[in-house]
Amino acid sequence: MKIMITGGAGFIGSNLILSWLENHPEDILVNFDCLTYAGNLANLKEIENHSNYHFYKGDLRLPKDIEAAFEKYQIEAVIHLAAESHVDRSILTPDQFIQTNIVGTFNLLETAKHFWQTELSKHRFLHVSTDEVYGSLGESGYFQETTPYRPNSPYSASKAGSDHLVRAYYHTYGMNTIITNCSNNYGPYQFPEKLIPLLIKNCMEQKPIPVYGNGSNIRDWLYVKDHCCAIDLAFHKASAGETYNIGGLNEWKNIDIVRYICRYLDEKLNRSGDNSCQQLITFVKDRPGHDQRYAIDASKIQQTLSWQPEFSFEIGIQETINWYLDHQAWVAQVTSGEYQKYYIQQYEKR
Ligand code: NAD
Ligand code: DAU
Repeated sequence: MKIMITGGAGFIGSNLILSWLENHPEDILVNFDCLTYAGNLANLKEIENHSNYHFYKGDLRLPKDIEAAFEKYQIEAVIHLAAESHVDRSILTPDQFIQTNIVGTFNLLETAKHFWQTELSKHRFLHVSTDEVYGSLGESGYFQETTPYRPNSPYSASKAGSDHLVRAYYHTYGMNTIITNCSNNYGPYQFPEKLIPLLIKNCMEQKPIPVYGNGSNIRDWLYVKDHCCAIDLAFHKASAGETYNIGGLNEWKNIDIVRYICRYLDEKLNRSGDNSCQQLITFVKDRPGHDQRYAIDASKIQQTLSWQPEFSFEIGIQETINWYLDHQAWVAQVTSGEYQKYYIQQYEKR
């Protein structure tokens, strides 16, 4: 099958391409990505010459780019990950989130509908979304597929908008869509603006670790490889029009996960006392509209598609930390340009 993976040069997209080529060597993958600050082809170095992998530099905001890629590769299915994905940036520059996440998804749906018109129901369109569309939880309860959408940030509102469009193309035109809503991912190739890679980087460089507010916000962390496995299963086994929540049943308060990673790094880097990574923890002004708690009820995908996370948090986070320690050149490269300006605006001018 010829599958377009949008956002394949980003964090989850590159992990997905690497695992997909290994698990489905017969498929042809077209990585459609415009290479924003978050997209990096170095993530895919090991497969760049693979005969069943192609990179297409295209922008979802430009319908002609999508049409040209569909035409060139005769695309038969789509897994849509490309997005502006960072909440803090959506607070600083919401416009890009509306253009890529909503208008871009609309452009992709329209092109696919036009291209597959006579056999629309035969071509799978899997849309990768987030648990943030459901808003924020109190101390108890879980997000279920039936939980009403209540997005609170420009990012989550733009993802909610894209989910609604995908849903509408199933109901109105009979497109063969699937939506997955996943919790916080961690793992190799995550851009160091997100909490876990940022804190590993700052520990290595002995810079302050910014913890928003009092650090009591809770996230449900899933290893990226388990997310990729869930996407693969949903792509192959789910019925059209279905939505699935994906999560690790692995809730952590931010301050606890920060301290846990600091302890691990202290051991690895031989730091203690005044030199301990714990000493770098710095409470800073809270994120505006900061959601308190996310937690996923993943029983639907567990029961209907037999998905289970394979990696315990202990193993996943060790693999992740070790990966960052071993790939300092990658970290230096992706943070050498635009990141510097963003970092000053986000952390040093507040
Ligand atoms: P990322 O920011 O690491 O990567 C996004 C990719 O999309 C980049 O390669 C970028 O170049 C590309 N892109 C952005 N705008 C584009 C455009 N206009 N045209 C073409 N390509 C464009 O994101 P990620 O963390 O890998 O997330 C991937 C998807 O998964 C997103 O849709 C996100 O909402 C969703 N998601 C992420 C998480 C998470 O914890 N990271 C959790 C649940 C869902
Ligand atoms: O829940 C899924 C979502 O998870 C995805 O849809 C998003 O694409 C992804 O970015 C992530 O969103 P979060 O806002 O939860 O992730 P982030 O890593 O930015 O922040 C995690 C928590 O840590 C959050 O409560 C904010 C806090 N935080 C974050 C940063 C960057 C800090 O305390 N300090 C920081 O410097």
